[in-house]
Amino acid sequence: MLRSSKETKELFNEWATSYDEFLENASGPLLGYQESLAFAKEILSVKDNARLLDIGIGTGAFANLLSNKDTEVWGVDISEGMIEQCQEKHPQYHLQVGTFTAPNIDGLTFDYIVSSFCFHEVDPIEREQALETAHNLLTEDGTLLILDIMFASAQAVEDGRQSIGKYWDETEDYPIVGELDQVLRSANFKGVRWVQTGPYHWAVIAQKSTSESDR
Ligand SMILES: C[S@@+](CC[C@H](N)C(=O)[O-])C[C@H]1O[C@@H](n2cnc3c(N)ncnc32)[C@H](O)[C@@H]1O
Repeated sequence: MLRSSKETKELFNEWATSYDEFLENASGPLLGYQESLAFAKEILSVKDNARLLDIGIGTGAFANLLSNKDTEVWGVDISEGMIEQCQEKHPQYHLQVGTFTAPNIDGLTFDYIVSSFCFHEVDPIEREQALETAHNLLTEDGTLLILDIMFASAQAVEDGRQSIGKYWDETEDYPIVGELDQVLRSANFKGVRWVQTGPYHWAVIAQKSTSESDR
């Protein structure tokens, strides 16, 4: 059975102080976490003086990797514990409690919205709304990058379940690439591109609008 948002919040509040240590040697569906982050960085080059929002920022690893010295970093997370850890490590970040569907950000738009290993936490029936929310928060030439535990097909999910064995998490519902591709297009994203970054990880990059060169 899937976890409720309340359970997810409690899980990450409890995990917050030991989360970074766990990820030094990630296992289960997060196996290859560090390599996937590094791979995703290769596909997104952040321009100067950009404003970037990381949804499900956790302790800030992805935002930190992607941003430059002059990037204005904003982050939201469902867990106060994670926000606390992130703020300690990155005092300059603008952080607040918020979710994919309700980031609680008014009056700002972002050149980049990024998210790592969080989207699968969004209830499948809320995924289109979550992506529409992200679409609305992007500048006209803005870019979305989602890195997560995802699988190419239902068969790949079963294969993953077999190889991960006892560390497979039945409370999570990992997106299927083709299905999420459709949801991104329904939410009006353009130029959707996919890259597999690890045995159980994919990254997708998409634009708010069609660029001049695509027209
Ligand atoms: C596996 S951690 C990933 C953290 C970080 N992005 C990273 O790559 O290390 C998932 C994060 O998403 C947060 N989270 C879970 N569900 C969320 C939601 N619906 N909206 C925003 N954050 C959420 C959790 O509190 C946690 O910090």
